[in-house]
Amino acid sequence: MSTIFPLLPLAFLICILGLCSSPASASPTKIGNGYRLISLEETPDGALLGLLQVNQKNSVYGPDIPYLQLFIKHETDDRLRVRITDAQKQRWEVPYNLLPREGPPPLSKLAIPIGRTPRDPITTSDYSGSAFTVSYTANPFSFKVKRSSTGETLFDTGSDPTDPYSSLVFKDQYLELSTRLPEDASLYGLGENTQPHGIKLYPNDPYTLYTTDISAINLNMDLYGAHPVYIDLRAGKAHGVLLLNSNGMDVVYRGNSLTYKVIGGVLDFYFFAGTSPLSVVDQYTQLIGRPAPMPYWSFGFHQCRWGYHNLSVVEDVVANYQKAKIPLDVIWNDDDHMDGHKDFTLNPVNYPRPKLLAFLDRIHSIGMKYVVIIDPGIGINSTYGVYRRGLANDVFIKYEGEPYVAQVWPGAVNFPDFLNPRTVQWWGDEIRRFHELVPVDGLWIDMNEASNFCSGKCTIPKGKQCPSGTGPGWICCLDCKNITNTRWDDPPYKINASGMQVPIGFKTIATSAVHYNGVLEYDAHSLYGFSQAIATHKGLQGLQGKRPFILSRSTFVGSGKYAAHWTGDNKGTWEDLKYSISTVLNFGIFGVPMVGSDICGFYPAPTEELCNRWIEVGAFYPFSRDHANFYSPRQELYQWESVAESARNALGLRYKLLPYLYTLSYEAHTTGAPIARPVFFSFPEFAESYSLSTQFLLGSSVMISPVLEQGKTEVTALFAPGSWYSLFDMTQVITSKGGMYVTLDAPLHVVNVHVYESTILPMQQGGMLSKEARMTPFTLVITFPAGASDGQAKGKLFLDDDELPEMSLGNGRSSYVEFSAMSNKGKVKVWSEVQQGDFAMKNGWIVHRLIVLGLGGTTASGLQIDEVSAGEVEVNVSEQRVLEKEGDIRGTK
Ligand code: NOJ
Repeated sequence: MSTIFPLLPLAFLICILGLCSSPASASPTKIGNGYRLISLEETPDGALLGLLQVNQKNSVYGPDIPYLQLFIKHETDDRLRVRITDAQKQRWEVPYNLLPREGPPPLSKLAIPIGRTPRDPITTSDYSGSAFTVSYTANPFSFKVKRSSTGETLFDTGSDPTDPYSSLVFKDQYLELSTRLPEDASLYGLGENTQPHGIKLYPNDPYTLYTTDISAINLNMDLYGAHPVYIDLRAGKAHGVLLLNSNGMDVVYRGNSLTYKVIGGVLDFYFFAGTSPLSVVDQYTQLIGRPAPMPYWSFGFHQCRWGYHNLSVVEDVVANYQKAKIPLDVIWNDDDHMDGHKDFTLNPVNYPRPKLLAFLDRIHSIGMKYVVIIDPGIGINSTYGVYRRGLANDVFIKYEGEPYVAQVWPGAVNFPDFLNPRTVQWWGDEIRRFHELVPVDGLWIDMNEASNFCSGKCTIPKGKQCPSGTGPGWICCLDCKNITNTRWDDPPYKINASGMQVPIGFKTIATSAVHYNGVLEYDAHSLYGFSQAIATHKGLQGLQGKRPFILSRSTFVGSGKYAAHWTGDNKGTWEDLKYSISTVLNFGIFGVPMVGSDICGFYPAPTEELCNRWIEVGAFYPFSRDHANFYSPRQELYQWESVAESARNALGLRYKLLPYLYTLSYEAHTTGAPIARPVFFSFPEFAESYSLSTQFLLGSSVMISPVLEQGKTEVTALFAPGSWYSLFDMTQVITSKGGMYVTLDAPLHVVNVHVYESTILPMQQGGMLSKEARMTPFTLVITFPAGASDGQAKGKLFLDDDELPEMSLGNGRSSYVEFSAMSNKGKVKVWSEVQQGDFAMKNGWIVHRLIVLGLGGTTASGLQIDEVSAGEVEVNVSEQRVLEKEGDIRGTK
C-alpha cells in the first residue's frame, strides 16, 4: 500500500483535525536567544571560535545549548567548511566511515569550562582562503561567506531584528540557521521531491528532507532520498552549499532567504566555489565520492514490471522485444520470482531454478543481463535460512533490546542494521549464496527508506503467525502501536513529514529504535538506503571481480558512489512525465547521475499516446527502464505498434549514442559531471534557460526537446545562442546570436534531438543489444558554427572492458581518445590524441565515417583528415591512433 497510494486519506484526516500547517506559514516567534563570540583561536587554514548563548529566556523546542564550537576551515582551494556543534559534548553526525572526509578538531581542544569569563569583546574579522572569505560579527554572532575574488556575499546569517528567522538557534533537537539571498539568485537542489514548478526552487514551496516511502506523485514532499545541497546561480556564476546532516529537516525558501530547521545533528556546512555549475558538482563529488562506474550494458534499455507471474512470461517478454526489433539489454524481476516475498529465494513453482538457469544461460550468451529486486525487510520465519543466519549474527535493528518488528511484503520482518559491520558481512554472504543460486547481474534495493506498513511498536499477536503472502496484497497480522512517549518519536519540532507533519516514525522504523553502538534511528533514519547500498556494493564487488550494478530507491549524500537511482512510484500522466525531467536533473546535481523514471508510469495505466511520448523522453534518461505496478495493464513497448515505432526511433538513436553516453559516465565517474544536465550547465550566462525544465542536455551538447503535452505534434523549444543541428535530420540547423524559441515539428514518432556547434560526437551504428552495438564502426559527427568559414570542434571517447570493477585508464583494458577538428577556409582537419590506444586497436574499433556540419550553411565545403584531402580517406594509422583507414567518409551532405 505505502508504495502505491499517496497518503491522502491521512492528510485529510489530519487537516480536518486542525493539525495541518506548513513551515512556510509558521508564526514568526523567536525561537532561540542568539550567541556571542567568546573565544577565538586562529589556525593555519581557518579558525576555531567559541560561542556562548546570549541568555536563556526562551525554551521553545527545548533549552539552547550554552557553548558552541564553530570551526572554519578552507579545506581546499575551492572548498570551505563551517561546522557548528556543541562545544562540550559529542553530537550525532553523519558517520565518517560511511562518508569519509576530514575529521573535525577534537572537542577537548575547544571545551570552554563553564564559569569561565568570556573574553570580550571580539570584533569582526576575516578568514580568507583562495576562494572564500569568512567574516563574522561577534555579538550577536553571525557570519558571512564571501567570494574572495569579488567580495560578493554568498551566504549571510546576519541577524536582522525585523527578521526572526535569521538568528542561530542550537538546541538538542532543534537547530536553525538562515541565510539571506539576493533576489537574482536561482537555486537548484534540495531533494528528493517532485517539483511541480520545475527544476528551479520556487519561493514558499516546502522542501522537507527525510527519507520516506510516499509515492513520487506527491508534490513538494519528502520523498525517498535526502540531499541537503543546493547550487546557487547568479548572473552566470555558481556556487554550492551542502548542509551535511542526516536528521529530518525543513528548508524554508522564501526567495530572499533560506532557513534550515533541523531536528538534530550538527550544522556542518560545506561551500563549493564553482564558478561554473559543472565545477560545483565536481567540487561536491570530490567531497562526497565520485559516481560509481556503471557497466556498459546498463546504458542499454531495461524492461521490468511487478507481476511477471512466472518465468514463461519473462521469456515471452524477451522474445517479443526481439520480434518487435526494439533494443533490450536487461530484463528484470520484481518480487515475483521470490518464494513468499522472501529475499534471496526462488519460487519453486513459478521460477524453478533449472529453468531459470537455462533461461539465464540463453540470455547471457547473447549479452543480455538479468537484475532482481531485494527488500531490506527479512521475513521472520524460523525455516528461512537468511533470517536464521541474520538472527544468529545479531544483525537486526533493536527495539527494547529485541529485533525491531516491522511489516512489509513477507509479513512480519526484521530490518538489518547496515551500520553494523557484522550485518555488512552477513549481507555480503547472503548475496554470495544467492549469486550461487542465481547468477544475477545486478541488484535492485527497494523499500529502503525504510518502508514499513506498520508504524511504531509492531508486535505479532499471540498465536497468530504472519502468513507468507502469495500476491502483492499483504495481510496485516501485526498489532501496530504508535509510540509517542519518547522525545525521539515525538520531537518538539515537527518537520513537515509527508507534507502533513505526520509523526516521523510513521510507516517506517520507530525512531526510538537502536542501531549498532547505540545510534538512534532518529538520527540515522535517512542513512538507511545509503548504508544498504554500501553493503550491497561490497557484497557484489566481491563476486567474480565485476563492476556492480545496484539500483537504490532511497539515497543520501554520497549514494551515487555505489548506486543508480530511479525516481520511484510515478503515475502514467502527462504531469508526471514532465516532472520526471526535473527529478532526473536534480539527481545529476546530487552526484547520482545514473537515474531515470519508470517509463510510461508505474501506475495505473498510460494511454498509448503518453507511452509514445514517454519513451521519447525515457530513451534519453541516463537509466532507461520501463516499469509498471502489479495492478497495471501490461505496458512493454511492443504492446502498441505506435509505441514500438517511437521506441525503435528513440532507442535506435540512444543505441547509436551509447559510446557518447558511456564516455559521459566516465566523465561522471572522474569529475562528477551529470550525464543528463539542465541547459544552463552549458550556458550559465543564458538567463532564459535558468528555469528551463522541459528540455535537457546529455553531456554538454546534445539537447532533447520532447513533447510533454497531450495531442501536440509540435514543440516550442528554447535554443541557446549558437548553432544547433538536428541529430535525426542532419540538414536542419537552428542558429541565433542571443538564443531563441523555435516551434519544431514533432509528430507522434518524432523527438527532437539537437547537437550543438563545436562538438565531435562519437556515434556507432546501434543495434538490438549494447554488446553488438559497441562493436560497430564509429561515425564522428563534427559540428561547426553554421555558415562560418573557421571553427573548431572537440569530442571525447572512453572505451574499456566495461565489467572491470574500476573505470580508469592505465590498466591495459581501456583507451581514451580526444578528437579535435579545425576548419579553415573550407578545409577541415580532424585529428585525435589517444591514451592507451592498444586496447582500442586490439578490439578493432575504427572510425569509418565523418559527418561535418556547419560550413557554408549545413554543408561541409571541404574536408581534410590529417592533412589528407577528403576522398582519399587515408587516415594515418599509428599505434597511438584509433582512427583507421576505411571507406565512406562523407565530406558533403
Ligand atoms: C515499490 C517500488 O517503488 C516499485 O517499483 C516496486 O514495483 C514495488 N515496491 C514492489 O516491489
